[in-house]
Amino acid sequence: MTLLAPRTASARTRPNPEIADWVDDIARLTTPDEVVWVDGSTAEWDRLTKEMVAQGTLIRLNPEWRPNSFLARSDPADVARVEDRTFICSVDPDDAGPTNNWRAPSIMRLELSELFSRSMRGRTMYVIPFSMGPVGGDLSQFGVQITDSPYVVASMALMTRVGDDALQAMTPGTPWVPALHSLGVPLIDDDGVRHDDSPWPHNETKYICHFPETREIWSFGSGYGGNALLGKKCFALRIASVMARDEGWMAEHMLIVRVTSPEKKVFHLAAAFPSACGKTNLAMLAPTIPGWKVETIGDDIAWMRPGPDGRLRAINPERGFFGVAPGTGPSTNPTATQTIWGNTIFTNVALRDDGDVWWEGLTDSPPAHATDWEGNDWTPASGTRAAHPNGRFTVTADQCPSIADEWNSPDGVVIDAILFGGRRPSTVPLVSQARSWQQGVFMGATMASETTAAATGEVGRLRHDPFAMLPFAGYNMADYFAHWIAMGELLGDKAPQIFSVNWFRTDADGRFIWPGFSENARVIEWIVGRLEGDLAARATPIGGLPLAHELNLEGLSVGVDEIQAIIDLDKPAWQREAAAIAEYFGTFDETRFPAELRRELDRLTRDLGPD
Ligand code: GDP
Ligand code: PGA
Ligand code: MN
Repeated sequence: MTLLAPRTASARTRPNPEIADWVDDIARLTTPDEVVWVDGSTAEWDRLTKEMVAQGTLIRLNPEWRPNSFLARSDPADVARVEDRTFICSVDPDDAGPTNNWRAPSIMRLELSELFSRSMRGRTMYVIPFSMGPVGGDLSQFGVQITDSPYVVASMALMTRVGDDALQAMTPGTPWVPALHSLGVPLIDDDGVRHDDSPWPHNETKYICHFPETREIWSFGSGYGGNALLGKKCFALRIASVMARDEGWMAEHMLIVRVTSPEKKVFHLAAAFPSACGKTNLAMLAPTIPGWKVETIGDDIAWMRPGPDGRLRAINPERGFFGVAPGTGPSTNPTATQTIWGNTIFTNVALRDDGDVWWEGLTDSPPAHATDWEGNDWTPASGTRAAHPNGRFTVTADQCPSIADEWNSPDGVVIDAILFGGRRPSTVPLVSQARSWQQGVFMGATMASETTAAATGEVGRLRHDPFAMLPFAGYNMADYFAHWIAMGELLGDKAPQIFSVNWFRTDADGRFIWPGFSENARVIEWIVGRLEGDLAARATPIGGLPLAHELNLEGLSVGVDEIQAIIDLDKPAWQREAAAIAEYFGTFDETRFPAELRRELDRLTRDLGPD
């Protein structure tokens, strides 16, 4: 067999024997036609995209509008993360529970080995050495992904630092996370007959499995980003959260921005919002208020660790953006619109007749005719969506006009404030400040948000999503809360201030009251005012609330009365909320659940008073 004869340029770099052995084992298990080591080069990108165009997996967009860019249409049954097929395979089920699906590692391993057995017959097996974070950085981590999907290879090359630099840095003894992925659709059947490939192969059986003790990922049956680009949610959140707990750092579902005030003072904010709740938009915010500048460091994930000065430092472990396309346009997110000028892979959006892409919200008026995300003729009269609500763009961060120079710094940036937010049509005010780290952790632990199209299942159902980590914490959620409390103790008076925000309050007609997007700069201005001690806050049971006249509303079309309603404490709603939180806290194991959070709930209930 020529299995281990690398075909690409990275033949120059010999993998360390541990990696070579693992690759060898997986090749024996999955029996691909050949093994290709990925080097992340332009030549490789050109070859892969050309092959995928020939195969029908990608459509080349008109280079006049969108150079070196492609559209992928997934199978309609493979469009989002599959949370019900996502498992944490810890030895003890209590280490995964109560919020994660659990499988016994030994049993899961057997089942997966059967599924992966010969699953790559007739296909190419790609080996992707990658680094999450700048190669060799103190906060960075290595991984090696194996996949039989060229779409995954091209996407990983945009989203992470792949290739020889990472491979060379993985010297023997360096920790790296093995991440195995297969579409689960061999091209040669048991009788040795070769079948035609489809544009988007995937298997009805899907498994997204994480082994926290051995720090491994096995993903089977899906080609969709969140299920298949294993550096992202699987490694950078589920596996990394376990590493972080063990090693005293934090792996969080957070964007990172650098904010410069009119006085030229610099602040860094990290913000956790659930999927499709505004991280990418806030990360690329173009402020409407004069004198303010917001630059992007990351849009989805933050790895944070106390630095030598005791302050929390954060890096964005990724190298690109996997953003929600619908709703992204020049009026909502001009920065993203400019970022995706070219060199971009679009997934499940519409194709215009002129060979460019389109989605709802990209332009005010739709094209007269297009091809929808499923490949059907579409006109504005069709009454259907042209793009899937979870349609995505995949692009490197260095194309983003608002990217901060520091985004690539291995030491990261010092975090001054942490924001928690979700889609809450009622109850949660526009902004509030925690009086303490403990109250901030309470805010994170009690987050709830309406479900979105980023995961399969019902959309618009309010569910608890603590720290926006419900689908991403790789271990017991009560332990995760305790880790947050412990990090606060470690950081002491150097801990960032914590705020809660909510852009999604609605009026009686269900319309958003707060204009959001670029106008969110006004909330950032208030937050910075609080950090600087320039602005006052009204102390309430749910934290410090802004005084209406101290919130910059100049030039906003929304009436002061409407704003007043969303910045105040809605006491009856919070009394109901406190009762719901008590019920929610009851779902956790008493012995693991931090006493600090119970004390916060008691205090909230007491301070809210009787009805
Ligand atoms: P992410 O998945 O958390 O990165 O979320 P995105 O930033 O991609 O946004 C997801 C969806 O929420 C998109 O349709 C956005 O248009 C919408 N969105 C983002 N920010 C705001 C906001 O401030 N207000 C409102 N009403 N919608 C927003
Ligand atoms: P996001 O999730 O919406 O938080 O960007 C990405 C995903 O669904 O994998
Ligand atoms: Mn995003």
